[in-house]
Amino acid sequence: MAPLPSLLLVFLFSLCNLHLTVAFRICAFNAYHFGESKSKNGQVMKTLVQIVSRCDVCLLQEVRDSKKKALPALLNQLNRGRGADYDYVASERLGRSEAYQEQYVFVYKTSSASVTGTYQYPDNRPGDQDAFAREPFVVRFRAPKTDIKEFVLIPQHTTPTNTTKELDALYDVLQDVKRMWKTENVMLLGDFNADCGYLAKKNRNKVRLITDSNLQWLIPDGSDTTVRESTNCAYDRIVVNGRKLFDSVVPSSAKAFNFQQEFRLSEDEALDVSDHYPVEVLLKSRTFKSAAVRVRSGTFKSFG
Ligand SMILES: *[C@@H]1O[C@H](CO)[C@@H](O)[C@H](O)[C@H]1NC(C)=O
Repeated sequence: MAPLPSLLLVFLFSLCNLHLTVAFRICAFNAYHFGESKSKNGQVMKTLVQIVSRCDVCLLQEVRDSKKKALPALLNQLNRGRGADYDYVASERLGRSEAYQEQYVFVYKTSSASVTGTYQYPDNRPGDQDAFAREPFVVRFRAPKTDIKEFVLIPQHTTPTNTTKELDALYDVLQDVKRMWKTENVMLLGDFNADCGYLAKKNRNKVRLITDSNLQWLIPDGSDTTVRESTNCAYDRIVVNGRKLFDSVVPSSAKAFNFQQEFRLSEDEALDVSDHYPVEVLLKSRTFKSAAVRVRSGTFKSFG
């Protein structure tokens, strides 16, 4: 029998491995008016980099970068000292008025994911006159390390006053995307404004995205995705379509990420970054499983 310390070492090493290789993280963050002025605030940018760099794919919403400098600045800071590992794909500027437009942006780690398709949902579909203020910019990702290998993300930042209608219309987007790319592996995510005053309880049975049992809402109603002490609403959501994708999600991994607490910021410092927390979920990956097996065999040896 080997001396205990070396067995302990094997066990600890396996545990470390587990932590280093743990699953694939998908995030969605309403980065509240992310544009030029934020990109010039060093403290805000530092926190943004900390938030985004935790994720393999991070959907940013409320990107308002008309001068096209803030996003490159964020990528530049993300890649500094990290070997140019991040890239992004962005929608056009979207919105009903020229004066207020936003982009959907997916920042992703090139070592863990690549983009295999994009689809900008059209402004006016026959039979559905302009349902969205910001039509979803749909992206398909390939992620070889994940169990699921390939999946589609449908982003949405709803207009608060039209939340019920826009969420219901997202169901049509989902059906289109499933047909177009012949896949069930679709996740919908973003600031849905799906709580408090914007989505009345009595309207929920009118929203097919809620009533269809093929869909799982991973961020529960009781969650708080808002920074302010005075608000407690689950606005930001992650919804998974189909059994296969649901099974490839790490159980109970979906949550709001309280960056204020995690990075020890005051409420005002956190609000300088955003009034929302990011929401996130983990996908199972091959390395996750093989690391778990190593931990088990390590444990077995120590006691066997
Ligand atoms: C709500 O939706 C209707 C029709 O889809 C649209 O005409 C209206 O501008 C929307 N309201 C806002 C604030 O976007």
